[in-house]
Amino acid sequence: MRVLLFGATGMVGQGVLRECLLDPEIEGVLSIVRRSSGAQHAKLREIVLSDFYDYSTIEGQLAGYDACFFTLGASSVGMNEAAYRRVTYDLTLAAASTLARLNPAMTFLYVSGAGTDSTARGRTMWARVKGETENALLSLPFKAAYMFRPGLIVPRHGIRSKTRLYRIIYSFATPIFSVLEAALPKQVTDTEKLGRAMIDAARFGAPKHVLETSDIYELVKRDAASRRSV
Ligand SMILES: NC(=O)c1ccc[n+]([C@@H]2O[C@H](COP(=O)([O-])OP(=O)(O)OC[C@H]3O[C@@H](n4cnc5c(N)ncnc54)[C@H](OP(=O)(O)O)[C@@H]3O)[C@@H](O)[C@H]2O)c1
Repeated sequence: MRVLLFGATGMVGQGVLRECLLDPEIEGVLSIVRRSSGAQHAKLREIVLSDFYDYSTIEGQLAGYDACFFTLGASSVGMNEAAYRRVTYDLTLAAASTLARLNPAMTFLYVSGAGTDSTARGRTMWARVKGETENALLSLPFKAAYMFRPGLIVPRHGIRSKTRLYRIIYSFATPIFSVLEAALPKQVTDTEKLGRAMIDAARFGAPKHVLETSDIYELVKRDAASRRSV
């Protein structure tokens, strides 16, 4: 499987990248970043792109991929709706509509978040915008599209959030989150499990197109079983 990755420098993206590089079924990862991550691996290639709203300069390099893991996203804290919509809806749809045109056999996997509002009409701004983004992605002509809605994600393997506030929270809360994850595995996930669940859905599909943490947990179990049987 050949995969594209957006958001590889973020907490979720670092987790997905780690699992992709470890997975023998994934031949190569093309990561689109706005600054080089400095990561080096035989299976990894990066394209540094300055404008994530315009793919015309790199289109020739974006065809022939089986899956796209879209983990790029920004916190809505301190943003008005127009600014948040631009980085969430406009940016994601600019990338996804280009990819759907170039790769009709692609599976597109988007990380939104628990509480996303599929009606896109609710009172919570970020949930409405993410809901609108999910709905638009689900209508694109991909082979399949899956919307991942994790709640709490525990960072594993030294992975760190790009967001300073989250880094501070994680620095003291990770032990508590780990206890919560062990006690409530259907409500709390981690970067490794989310990465594995996304790879599993890219390879084998998923029973639903919108996946809450409990559905992510089921994919993780299916993935573990299929890898044990190899
Ligand atoms: N972390 C959680 O607990 C959690 C829980 C549920 C859902 N989510 C969702 O998962 C997604 C990823 O979260 P995260 O925690 O990995 O975030 P993060 O650590 O803040 O990383 C965000 C990623 O998006 C990229 N990015 C942001 N704005 C960009 C822009 N305008 N142009 C290009 N790249 C941009 C960043 O690139 P740079 O490195 O260049 O800044 C980085 O790779 C988000 O949509 C978030 O809402 C996260």
